[in-house]
Amino acid sequence: MSLSITFLGQSGFRLSDGTHAIVIDPFLSGNPVAKHKPGDITCDYVALTHGHQDHFGDTIELAKANNATVIGSFEICNYVNEKGIEKIEPGNVGGTIKTSFGWVAFTQAFHSSSFQGAYMGMPMGLMVNIDGRTFYHTGDTGLFSDMKLLSEIYKPEIAAIPIGDRFTMDGALATRAAEFIKPKVAIPIHYKTMDLLAQDASAFRPSGITVKELQPGETWEYSG
Ligand code: NI
Ligand code: MN
Repeated sequence: MSLSITFLGQSGFRLSDGTHAIVIDPFLSGNPVAKHKPGDITCDYVALTHGHQDHFGDTIELAKANNATVIGSFEICNYVNEKGIEKIEPGNVGGTIKTSFGWVAFTQAFHSSSFQGAYMGMPMGLMVNIDGRTFYHTGDTGLFSDMKLLSEIYKPEIAAIPIGDRFTMDGALATRAAEFIKPKVAIPIHYKTMDLLAQDASAFRPSGITVKELQPGETWEYSG
C-alpha cells in the first residue's frame, strides 16, 4: 500500500490511502505559498489542530463542498456546526475517534487556540492512522519531552513538525522533537510561509531520521 501525502503549505496536508482522504489544517485562501484552491481538494474529513486562521483556513468551504466530517476540539466542532456543518467528530486530548480509514487520536500541544476572538479549546496534535501507518501532525507547539512517550504509544512512522520559530519551535528545538519522536521520516512545516517565520529548514537536522522537505503543492507517494 502507499500513502499519498500532499503538502498544502504552512501546516496543511491532504493524506489519502487511495480510497479515503483526510485534510489537515487547510489554509489555502490568503496563503501566499499555497498552490491549491479549495475547489481543487476532495476529502472525506477535515481535521484541525487548533483554531488559528493559518490552520482553520478554508475548513467551512471544504467541508461543505465535500460533505466532509470535521474533526477537532469540542469548541471548533461547535463553531463549524453553527456555520452549517452537520458532520462533526469532536474530541479532546487523550481521545481517539474511529474513521473510515483508521483512526485519529488527539494529543497535547503547547500553544493557544482561538478564532476571530473566540476560544477554540485546547490546541492539539493529531495522530492519524491511515494506510496501516501513523502520521503524527504535532500541530503548532513548543518542545515537550512527552513526545517520546506519545511515540512509544502510537509509533508514528512519519511526523510533521513546525520549525519556523516565533510561534512554534525553531529548527534546533524541532530537531530535538524529531529525536524524541523517532519517526522514519520527518517533514518540516510552519516555515517560509510568511516573513516572520524561518525561511529555510537548514537547522532541522535530526540524527538518524530522514528529513523530507515538501514544497507547497507537492505530492509524495510514500510506501515506506
Ligand atoms: Ni497557531
Ligand atoms: Mn500557526
